[in-house]
Amino acid sequence: MCGIVGYAGRERCVEVLMEGLKHLEYRGYDSAGLALQIGGEIETIRRVGPLRELSKAIGEANGRFERVGTGIGHTRWATHGRPSEENAHPHLGGDKKVAVVHNGIIENHAELREELEERGFSFNSETDTEVIAHLLAERVEEGDTLREALGAALERLEGSFAVAAVSAKEPGTIVAARNQSPLVVGLGDGENFLASAVQALLGETRKFILVENGEIAVLTSSSVEIFGPDGKEVRREPFGVEWDAEAVELGGYEDYMLKEIHEQPAALQATLAGRLGAEGDVDLSEVDLDLSNVERIVIVACGTAYHAGLLGKNTIERLARIPVEVAIASEYRYSDPIGDEKTLVIAISQSGETTDTLAAIETAHGFGGHVLAITNTRGSLITREADSVLLTKAGPEICVASTKAFLTQVAVLDLLALELARLKKSLLEDELQEIGKSLRLAPEKIQEAIALSEVCMEGAVDVFEDARCALFLGRGVAHPVALEGALKLKEISYLPAEGYPAGEMKHGPIALIDESCPVVAILGEGVLREKTLSNIQETVARGAKIIAVADEGDAEARKIAEVVLPVPKVPEILASLVATVPLQLLAYHVAKERGLDVDKPRNLAKSVTVE
Ligand code: F6R
Repeated sequence: MCGIVGYAGRERCVEVLMEGLKHLEYRGYDSAGLALQIGGEIETIRRVGPLRELSKAIGEANGRFERVGTGIGHTRWATHGRPSEENAHPHLGGDKKVAVVHNGIIENHAELREELEERGFSFNSETDTEVIAHLLAERVEEGDTLREALGAALERLEGSFAVAAVSAKEPGTIVAARNQSPLVVGLGDGENFLASAVQALLGETRKFILVENGEIAVLTSSSVEIFGPDGKEVRREPFGVEWDAEAVELGGYEDYMLKEIHEQPAALQATLAGRLGAEGDVDLSEVDLDLSNVERIVIVACGTAYHAGLLGKNTIERLARIPVEVAIASEYRYSDPIGDEKTLVIAISQSGETTDTLAAIETAHGFGGHVLAITNTRGSLITREADSVLLTKAGPEICVASTKAFLTQVAVLDLLALELARLKKSLLEDELQEIGKSLRLAPEKIQEAIALSEVCMEGAVDVFEDARCALFLGRGVAHPVALEGALKLKEISYLPAEGYPAGEMKHGPIALIDESCPVVAILGEGVLREKTLSNIQETVARGAKIIAVADEGDAEARKIAEVVLPVPKVPEILASLVATVPLQLLAYHVAKERGLDVDKPRNLAKSVTVE
């Protein structure tokens, strides 16, 4: 986690760094800071808390930081050391002539710290990062260039990191390197940029160069050089990014979460375009793998992406009749999993950076499995680790709580299920095309679901007024939807919430039920709707207040529930998608009612790049 930025160019460094950090704040917001080259010295400014605290401090500095040309910045998600000014980045090394920002974890920091202390360095923070600052300062003091010093430091550092540094001795220069954590260089005219993710720089450039593991990038206003681990210069073509700067702005919405919920129809449209024809035929020729002999599938992911995986299992097994296991990536990597070259491993990750998911891919490669990544982030680490990639086209997702990425992940899994079913001939072509045609309705049905839910939200939020916890219940595909609804609620409103299979509730969680534990029931269709209704009756008998997610014309749901969050009538393939929307909005409005920051919930970060 953490976000880093760098700028070398005109006298507008602080403006560029702050704008970049604003777009990286989703990666962590425990503290933020800048290190700037001013008058032959390095000056730092750091503040605990969200970026606005740093912004305020800069504003109060009487123009001190106005005409700076080069610097680096950081927004922190604390790993080593609590959020405090001492632990905030940038960290200074030696005699304060070198400053460093870092994203990731230096695993051997304790050993390095001991060595450096023995050599007379004193530490001002509890962070693992400070060892990098001192390692660099030591070499620079001995006469190395900053690039040479970083090259030497890389040989000592273990773990995952993206690091950027400036030195008072080299005005106008930034050096940076990475191992496992992301880092991109942005190319400008008379100025160059550096960031953890392209989102940070979209207002400045659309031309980027990826820095690979072990490489060192050296940036000045007029040049970008990349050096390989052997010290030789590497030539790499820049790549373009189609996202525009507006995609990372609020565009009139109060929060990114609300904006991203409303962007779901467009995100689905973009994700299905070119892959699902008017006749419902699927074209996944972009998948660079032979899917025809897949005998078994394992889906690995974390959090919301894991819930998408559970829905993918349901659809793939139902349509293609291929057995699917869904594993939480952090468990999978240590589980000594069974698999072979006929196992397709699908790794789902919005960010494409999640360490646990990347490690699960490594595990899968260990037994010869073929890995297909589903990600929203072109050029992310997962796209390089996987054997093939299917991009979700949700556009940048800024809010920490995932919404539009989830829906597009489910849609991509639906496409994959249709393609696998075609290859396996488990259904007739006509049947598959009918399902494909239904899937094409996703954008408009989601639009309807948003409109329908919004009018009933007030009543649903009222049910939560004195709630101390909540149960989300569903069966079949409504179960992963319930899990996702509970996750959304707990992560942004801090209310304990459990998602449970409705039929299993009587084996334990029913003990939670009283009038202060609302039950959100996702009813669905067919026989499971009947069964879920009976389970819900059992909670009503124990005093539960019910919010039902149900077909707009469901009279029984209206009888049993305090509030119905209506969803449009849809074909089976769309049921989980439309049922998710009211739960996203419910979580959003409950959190807003409680006065919470929905985009930046406490303790969380968008990219989880630590184990
Ligand atoms: C919840 C949420 C997280 C992520 C999880 C995986 O709203 O966003 O649970 O889904 O951290 O992240 P990615 O998909 O980037 O691997």
